[in-house]
Amino acid sequence: MDKIPQARPEMTDEMIAAATHALQNERLVLGESVHKFEEEFARYNGVKHAISVSSGTDALQLTFIALGIEGKEVITTPLSFIATANAVLQAGGVPRFADASANDNNLDPELTAKAVTKRTAAVMPVHLFGHPCRMDEFNELAQEKGLKVVEDACQAHGSSYNGKKAGAIGNVACFSFYPTKNMTVGGDGGMVTTDDDDLAKLVAKLRDCGRTSRYVHDVVGYTSRLNSVNAAIGRVQLKHLDEYNEKRRAIAKRYDQLLKDIPELDLPPRGDKNVSPVYHQYAIRCQRRDDLEKALITNGVEVGVHYPVPIHLQPVYRGLYGFKGGEYAVSERLSLRLLSLPMFPSLKDDQVKRVAEEIGLFYHRRA
Ligand SMILES: Cc1ncc(COP(=O)(O)O)c(C=O)c1O
Repeated sequence: MDKIPQARPEMTDEMIAAATHALQNERLVLGESVHKFEEEFARYNGVKHAISVSSGTDALQLTFIALGIEGKEVITTPLSFIATANAVLQAGGVPRFADASANDNNLDPELTAKAVTKRTAAVMPVHLFGHPCRMDEFNELAQEKGLKVVEDACQAHGSSYNGKKAGAIGNVACFSFYPTKNMTVGGDGGMVTTDDDDLAKLVAKLRDCGRTSRYVHDVVGYTSRLNSVNAAIGRVQLKHLDEYNEKRRAIAKRYDQLLKDIPELDLPPRGDKNVSPVYHQYAIRCQRRDDLEKALITNGVEVGVHYPVPIHLQPVYRGLYGFKGGEYAVSERLSLRLLSLPMFPSLKDDQVKRVAEEIGLFYHRRA
């Protein structure tokens, strides 16, 4: 039987033609497609500025450098990809963790409030799996304590919260276009979005060697620009993003229907009239996760684990801060139970059914 992949990027003839056109006709770095992609991404998200960079990690790192968080603390979740916290360290700051909420897998605003100290400069909610965080509470906290809100929107392109797109809710947001994300540039890429004119200017300068003009550099910059070929692909992907996300939502609904009667599973949080998730992952919580993972892979269903080790328990963070386990109980528990099922726009209904059937067989239930 054919293997079902866990993720599969869309790469259509339209994207290949756009890439070829950029390759043959444009300046290869920061060419016309890059500027157009930035304008269109800003418009799509409802923000003044979008500055492209070469990865989601760089988007975060340059944002924190531009915010001047050196020597200060940024509070974020341990249940995320490691780049979330690394970016704070790379910018000279100190990542501090608050636990995730068991309700939506996202950074808990109440625990975040308790973790604020005199050294805290920013909070960084991560819209994990494409499910928007409780942003009103983060924005209120930030206002009260004089903090910046940095959205890690690397998994949440096109999701929305109270009528605003993820990426337009905090002070600044960071996106990744890595191939498995809800939209890609056909390789590594990232974007910073903000309404803050000064911050946008500084990030744009930092990503281009600190240049103010061709031969003048007034800050220590980085080489973190987006290639025109990648931007050309990104523009086509952006045009189709809403359609891709609708397909993901329809697949999520099918999984919900097919898996709802298996008592060993908890299904992902759903949206409501205020919260519109985009199912970057359809991550179930399950009993005997590792055995189920093995059984599915053996039977040709690729699955993912996001994340088997919470950031604070990664060797590098244990080494830096002495974490031993037990500090962030919800994240630690979720890291043992979450399993990401196949999820991508071109996943077919018979494939969704097969995934559900395999899960049913594992638990001796009918899915
Ligand atoms: C939540 C989160 N933050 C940051 C990143 C880093 O993005 P990139 O891989 O483009 O550097 C990713 C993706 O890999 C991510 O999922």
